[in-house]
Amino acid sequence: MNVLFVSPEVNPLVRTGGLGDVVGSLPLALKKLGIDVRIICPFHRECKGIESKTLKKNFVVKIRKKSITGSIRQTKLGNSDVPAYMIDLPEFYDRNGIYSDEHGDFPDNAQRAFVLSQVALELQSVTSWQPDIIHAHDWMAAPVCAYVNAIPSAKTVQPKIRTVLTIHNLQHQGIFSHEDFKTSGLPESNWAMDGFEKDGLLNLLKGGIQHADKITTVSPTYASEIRTKEYGCGLEASLEYRGADLMGILNGIDESSWDPQEDSSLVKPINPSRPKSGKLACKQALLEELNMESDIDSPLFGVVSRLYDQKGLDLLIELLPQLMAESHANFAILGSGDPHEEQAIRELSVSFPHRIGCFIGFDDGLARRIFAGSDFFLMPSRFEPCGLAQQYAMRYGSLPIARKTGGLADTILPISRGEKNCNGFLFKNASAKELWDAVQQALEVFANNRKFTRMRKNALSRNCGWKYAAEQYIQAYKWALEMP
Ligand code: GLC
Repeated sequence: MNVLFVSPEVNPLVRTGGLGDVVGSLPLALKKLGIDVRIICPFHRECKGIESKTLKKNFVVKIRKKSITGSIRQTKLGNSDVPAYMIDLPEFYDRNGIYSDEHGDFPDNAQRAFVLSQVALELQSVTSWQPDIIHAHDWMAAPVCAYVNAIPSAKTVQPKIRTVLTIHNLQHQGIFSHEDFKTSGLPESNWAMDGFEKDGLLNLLKGGIQHADKITTVSPTYASEIRTKEYGCGLEASLEYRGADLMGILNGIDESSWDPQEDSSLVKPINPSRPKSGKLACKQALLEELNMESDIDSPLFGVVSRLYDQKGLDLLIELLPQLMAESHANFAILGSGDPHEEQAIRELSVSFPHRIGCFIGFDDGLARRIFAGSDFFLMPSRFEPCGLAQQYAMRYGSLPIARKTGGLADTILPISRGEKNCNGFLFKNASAKELWDAVQQALEVFANNRKFTRMRKNALSRNCGWKYAAEQYIQAYKWALEMP
């Protein structure tokens, strides 16, 4: 089976978050199961350092009645032999940022998305390789699901190409104007309630949802949540309508890149069956790195997150002064995003320098050292399609404390379910009070060495690889191919 991934981000070529991580690691697992999987993404400015060869020069794309010339480049995904094709059109992709820069979202994001989709379909003329399945990721790649139905060459190819759309985060939908739709080259009939139109505007993700043969999202709980008003971000009716073709497949993580026994950013490896000495060394080093002189025997809570509403860290910020007064918990926080949250965290770390260490920004090495050095990991997300950080934390022996939603509910076995397999803490409502209670539960467990050690071992031994998810994706592809 031939599968073409279409995505705006692919780690390690280019990433802003979890989407890039998934598109960079799922193909490796599919390849191991015998799928001929390839990837296409834009040649963003960030990709420039990557070694690649030009596959086709003078590649012409037509948009807004203009012909734009660029080239198609080819590289490989990391050390694998999975081909990654990159669309080198400087006019669209050679910019400081993937979706936006310091002035905000790029005004031609709709056209940038249309070009990605159109070129994905024309790729076979360059490579003479024909996908059976086109697997699109998020709003920027979503229109490809409609182009497959609309472009005669794709339609006449036998067997017909099938499409699978994966939603990584429903909050980002790609909303533009009717004028933008007119630049797509898609038939006017696609501008409809069961197409790209939503409340008089162009909605790329909705168009993808309506046109894809199968739709997946990144955890089973999120797959049912997004069919409700509370989580559907206005698209719940479309998702309900496509409900029979919608499924949740829980993301795995790249176990070789996230291996606490081999990770060169840690001072000492962590052995999952005897974690104590590794965890202690990592904790000590982390406290020093963040200039915290807090007591090594006190519980250390980690945060690695982007700071915006979804992640619910405002709840933690609200609680921190009380936690400083009434507990001996310490905090190591890495994040960036909302300027108010950044400022609040900076100020708290100035007020409690020995107990709250922070780094505002992103640093992959420090993220790994927080997963490794912390005892607990906080993720109070208001919604979380899957969440990778809690999985990285468990793999590095830090027990997650999270809201019971989306992939957090599907990856964390809370202590309330009994001690045998539990590996974290879940709370129901996004309130500071419930987060406080969950932190208190964690503090109680920390005081009970036997329980704590047990839970930590459970977290460290959790099965988190991609194999199972890859098998489920293959099943989804087969279902798509079987459709009439
Ligand atoms: C998005 C979601 C996150 C998910 C990731 C990968 O970033 O917000 O929950 O883990 O995509 O699918």
